[in-house]
Amino acid sequence: MPKPRVLATRPLFPAAQQILSASCEVEYWTKPERISKEELFQKVKDKEGLVCLLTEKVNEELLRAAPKLRIAANVAVGFDNIDVPACTKRGVVATNTPGVLDETTADFAWTLLMAVARRIGEGEQLARSGNWKGWDLDQLVGTDVWGKTLGLVGFGRIGRAVARRAAGFQMKVIYSDAIRAPLDVEEELQAECRDFNTLLAEADFVSVHVPLLPDTQGLFDGPKFLRMKPTAFLINTSRGPVVDEAALVHALETGKLAGAALDVYENEPFILPGLKRPNVVLAPHIASASLETRTKMASIAAENVVALFKGQRPSNALNPEVLKTR
Ligand code: DGY
Repeated sequence: MPKPRVLATRPLFPAAQQILSASCEVEYWTKPERISKEELFQKVKDKEGLVCLLTEKVNEELLRAAPKLRIAANVAVGFDNIDVPACTKRGVVATNTPGVLDETTADFAWTLLMAVARRIGEGEQLARSGNWKGWDLDQLVGTDVWGKTLGLVGFGRIGRAVARRAAGFQMKVIYSDAIRAPLDVEEELQAECRDFNTLLAEADFVSVHVPLLPDTQGLFDGPKFLRMKPTAFLINTSRGPVVDEAALVHALETGKLAGAALDVYENEPFILPGLKRPNVVLAPHIASASLETRTKMASIAAENVVALFKGQRPSNALNPEVLKTR
């Protein structure tokens, strides 16, 4: 029996390659530049499996170009790049990589929170510049993190992992979510539920952990920034379009917000020039980027593909109904 043919839009990591190569014939995109849409469509046309990144769109157009495709395995937990209903209509299983990146992403959200509160970006620049004149009393004074109020918007696995970190800083934790967490979770994490607007008014640090959905697109807009304390900071490690960046720039410029720390952007890799301010910490979408976690993510995507071709259930199917019809 010939092995199923799979396209991976990145070389992945050796562990993931090993998983795939045992049962699939894999073509890897290895050039340093991203695969273009044209090349992707050309290469996927005879493939039964696709291992893709969040930078590739799996939509009607791609699915039309890939008539043999049976699985699109995203190497990410967020799957706003995948049109899941379109996959379902064409009998293509879509998968993601939940569960393995929660702690790493929470670590990074915490890193950003600390960095913006304690002005680490400005401090690092000064230390490297050769212009540092020595210790001074009011030099780069930032804001305390310990003892403050952390507002988590989205209280799923990652939001809860951030809450656990806050306990070590004696913070008060409040959260808002479409679904209230079970009481034992609230108790364990010492987290109190608030409606979104109340959270915005109370929090000193607002950290965003919602998926990008029609309901969350532009969730943080001008009126929402006005509800926040002028001393508050926004931290976003979820998806860029959850924040209206022009409104964020306006809020920062007019002193309605003390600062922001961002890992994600509305139109990656473009970063709005107005965001390049001293009180904004900018990172290039790397919250899950530890070697351990990225290796796990790629391996899970590979396992999802292999499971399907072995006639098993991929663990992370986003449209399991497709499997029932097989
Ligand atoms: C995801 O998995 O959705 C992140 O944005 C990349 O790790």
